[in-house]
Amino acid sequence: MPNNSLVHLLSAAVAFVLIAQTHAVSAPTYHRDIAPIILDNCAACHRPGEAAPFPLLQYADVKRRATQVADLTASRAMPPWKASPGEVHFVGERRLTDGQIKLISDWVAAGCVEGDPKDSPPQPVFADGWRNGPPDLVLTMPEPYAVPADGPDIYRSFVIPVEIPKGKFVRAAEFRPGNRTVVHHAVLSTMKREAIAKKLAAEPKGHGPGFKSGLNAPGDRMPGSPGIWVPGKDPLPLPDGYAMAWPQGCDLLVQLHLHPSGKAEVEQSSIGLYLTDEPPKGALIPFVMMNRNVDIAPGQKDFTLRSEKAVTQDVDVIGFFPHMHLIGRTCTATATLPGGKKINLLTIADWDFRWQGYYQCKTPVRLPAGTMVECVWTFDNSAENPSQPSNPPKRVRFGEGTTDEMGAIVMDFVPAPVQPAEAGVSLARDLMARHDTNKDQKLSRAELMKADPSKEKDIEHALAHFDADKDGLLNEAELKAACTALVASRER
Ligand code: HEC
Repeated sequence: MPNNSLVHLLSAAVAFVLIAQTHAVSAPTYHRDIAPIILDNCAACHRPGEAAPFPLLQYADVKRRATQVADLTASRAMPPWKASPGEVHFVGERRLTDGQIKLISDWVAAGCVEGDPKDSPPQPVFADGWRNGPPDLVLTMPEPYAVPADGPDIYRSFVIPVEIPKGKFVRAAEFRPGNRTVVHHAVLSTMKREAIAKKLAAEPKGHGPGFKSGLNAPGDRMPGSPGIWVPGKDPLPLPDGYAMAWPQGCDLLVQLHLHPSGKAEVEQSSIGLYLTDEPPKGALIPFVMMNRNVDIAPGQKDFTLRSEKAVTQDVDVIGFFPHMHLIGRTCTATATLPGGKKINLLTIADWDFRWQGYYQCKTPVRLPAGTMVECVWTFDNSAENPSQPSNPPKRVRFGEGTTDEMGAIVMDFVPAPVQPAEAGVSLARDLMARHDTNKDQKLSRAELMKADPSKEKDIEHALAHFDADKDGLLNEAELKAACTALVASRER
């Protein structure tokens, strides 16, 4: 008997050791499991000189804040990426998978095992200076702005004079804050010089350069990604072929959202512009969904706004700039295509004004003419909303002030490239409908010349090569073939 119980005891001990060993093998280690996640998803902001208040680069940095790191990744507050995963993928998507979040929490729960530094990926290398290389034109705020040690957030617009050389177009803009501890986000826009002069004249003296602005940036936001900067965002150029023609008589406005840091600071931002000689194929088309019917009672938790608008030509959506103010909670944009198919374009399930940004599609989304776009925004005007600016909550209406609200999503469209065949067919249809004067369903040389006398060469060419039945006239099929070839040759 005693022998037997000894055997039991021994086997229990062996089992215990085995369990402990398996556990040690499978327990996540910092260098092997956690460092790849942190270096990829956190280090861009959590490093010296960047927006976040402390670095997350080494084992000791992460261990020191382990619980907070586990909590904030679990709640998805960090890394700050507000778009929910959906059908459309965005450039620079920074979102942990459920597996990565669990790995971090398991690692913390198991006591933050360091593991072998040999397992760690190398420290990331971040480009010093301009991320897109040396800009063609560097614009800097003419004067620094003094940010007080404390007090409310500041929204202020600064003027930078701009002369774009003739024949040049802006293909990218890179914003660089002078002092990353105070700049929370920046909006770049253009405004007529006379309008700027009026704003500056109306501004009370003694408050430094620029003028006070509301939560909405004044002026016309630069199109696409160059128009808005948030910490950790890589500057993206406009889509190929869509450089921006600088509007005549306009200067650059840089609207900064400044957040006092606890000590007096100065801010003097710079903007690098990248230019091209290539004239743009066209301008980005802003498709603005904006709902002004804001009237939210104090305490109301789920106020909803809804807007619908039709797309009137075939387009490719290249990006989204959703915008609400402080008490906004969610926003979604859904497209219903002419055949009834629905596409969830963008969902933000946990709006945070401080992390608004521009969402550039990895692959542009084609929306045919006749698509309906629906946007829904919700707001929480209760005292429980941590972003509530008023204590106690007060009635909120539409406006640009810090305690006003709005529901907006600006989408950037470019016209969908027209298939030569479609364009040719529609040109043929149009010519036949309008210029077949004798109604014989054929176009003669004279009828074609009447349509457009400047196209004599094209008309001769069409009659020489596409009059298949050689009757000296172009019937419907012949005309279609001729127009399709003509459009295709122009595309080349
Ligand atoms: C886009 C920039 C950015 C990225 C990426 C980022 N952070 Fe942060 N983080 C910040 C900023 C800025 C703050 C300061 C608080 C704030 O402004 O919200 C912060 C604060 C924190 C805090 C402290 C919060 C507090 O309440 O004091 C923790 C912890 C944190 N981040 C962890 C992480 C982790 C972990 C990751 C990656 C999984 C990450 N962050 C990725 C910008 C970033």
